[in-house]
Amino acid sequence: MIKNKTFIGIIFSIVISAFGGFIFMQSVNAEPEMTVYKSPTCGCCGKWITHMEENGFKISAVDLLEMNIIKQKYGINRELASCHTAVVDGYFVEGHVPADDVKRLLSEKPDVLGLSVPGMPVGSPGMEMGDRVDNYSVVAIDKKGNIQVFNQY
Ligand code: CU
Ligand code: CU
Repeated sequence: MIKNKTFIGIIFSIVISAFGGFIFMQSVNAEPEMTVYKSPTCGCCGKWITHMEENGFKISAVDLLEMNIIKQKYGINRELASCHTAVVDGYFVEGHVPADDVKRLLSEKPDVLGLSVPGMPVGSPGMEMGDRVDNYSVVAIDKKGNIQVFNQY
């Protein structure tokens, strides 16, 4: 009888620890969560959000009438600015940055404040216009305000 109880106890603890491990795996593999600040009337912002969602990001969209406030908060000047400003894992993501570059940012975790695709280049995710694709750069901005090319299209 005592042996049996011990056996059940062991089985029970194995099940519990396996289940705990499963929950741990789930949280590690969770979709990256991103907040997107945008003006309520911006159509291309919505298209970019769809692009990010299709690439596995979990988006909460926040409509703001005064986008300058959020851009100032993250130190995004006119030269770097685009339409929407997103925040993920403490980084800002300004404008139509492709999802792959955001994924690279989150895996490499460079010592920068964020990424930007300044302006709204045609052919970037959410800015598709037929076959036209303009050349554009994704830039990284560090704490000192240095701007480096992160990727080019
Ligand atoms: Cu836009
Ligand atoms: Cu936008």
